[in-house]
Amino acid sequence: MKNIILTGDRPTGKLHVGHYVGSLRNRVAMQNDDNNQMYIMVADMQALTDNAHNPVKVSSNVLEVALDYLACGLDPVKSTLFIQSQIPELSELTMYYMNLVTVARVRRNPTVKAEIDQKNFGQSVPTGFFVYPISQAADITAFKANLVPVGEDQKPMLEQTREIVRDFNSTYAEVLVEPEAVVPKGAIGRLPGIDGKGKMSKSLGNGIYLADSMDVVKQKVMQMYTDPQHIHVEDPGQVEGNMVFTYLDVFGKDTAKIAELKDHYRQGGLGDVKIKRYLIDVLDAELTPIRTRREELAKDPAGVMQILQAGSQKAEAVAANTLAEVKKAMGIQYFKD
Ligand code: TRP
Repeated sequence: MKNIILTGDRPTGKLHVGHYVGSLRNRVAMQNDDNNQMYIMVADMQALTDNAHNPVKVSSNVLEVALDYLACGLDPVKSTLFIQSQIPELSELTMYYMNLVTVARVRRNPTVKAEIDQKNFGQSVPTGFFVYPISQAADITAFKANLVPVGEDQKPMLEQTREIVRDFNSTYAEVLVEPEAVVPKGAIGRLPGIDGKGKMSKSLGNGIYLADSMDVVKQKVMQMYTDPQHIHVEDPGQVEGNMVFTYLDVFGKDTAKIAELKDHYRQGGLGDVKIKRYLIDVLDAELTPIRTRREELAKDPAGVMQILQAGSQKAEAVAANTLAEVKKAMGIQYFKD
């Protein structure tokens, strides 16, 4: 049987190279396997759960995220690209699933807990934000996805989805599919920002974006955190925790050359500017085709929105089928059509 794969991103900003190595690159590979059917969702409803009073931040980034998707090689002929808010069935499913989840259970969700702390919500957490794991279960189950590629931090969402599926299927009828998370391993899954301080993120301002010009990429690489003890070229330097080497390990293809550079850097005699220049070349080779495609696509925003509209129509048909089965299983399909 074919794999049904669903994943998505909140449109709160452009996507960065951390998204690319941790997720987008892999989605393209999965899409090109005939055994996989991919759904890629721009999760604007989820983004609104903590941006209700700043809706333009969300709506304006729908196009940006779609440009990032297409520029990386997600192909609307092979994959269904759609916008979450255009599929009302997802909200309906959420309402029914909410009855299967206790408030205590949501409160225990480590990701929700961490995000409430991070955003300083305290008791003032919006209800919609609080229940987003349940809406995410609707996203996943509406398409009967069996595989969900996500970051490590999203594992509790998948656990929540699996519980809802088990409860639904045993209470009503075997309609829903229990999904599995597909989580990338190591540095690829959580590429640190250029400051080396934590995961690449917009709030930390430490990211390299797929839309960044080569000049901006150069500047950012030149500011990268290396080894603060490596002051003179002849000083021995540290490779671990040095962002230039971390990025070379993730993006570089010439592993022999990278090993040689590491040895030389450790011994001393290799300057930061040299290794940064090499990283710039490596990033240039990987990112320039993406950026060029992105610039081309950005000339026709209406065309991109059309792709999302067609995808949303296709996605809605699938979600409507599942919703009909759900209502039938629950005994609330009162009228014959
Ligand atoms: N929560 C995901 C994120 O933070 C986005 C998302 C929404 C998602 N619905 C999903 C991911 C369903 C996978 C499956 O990026």
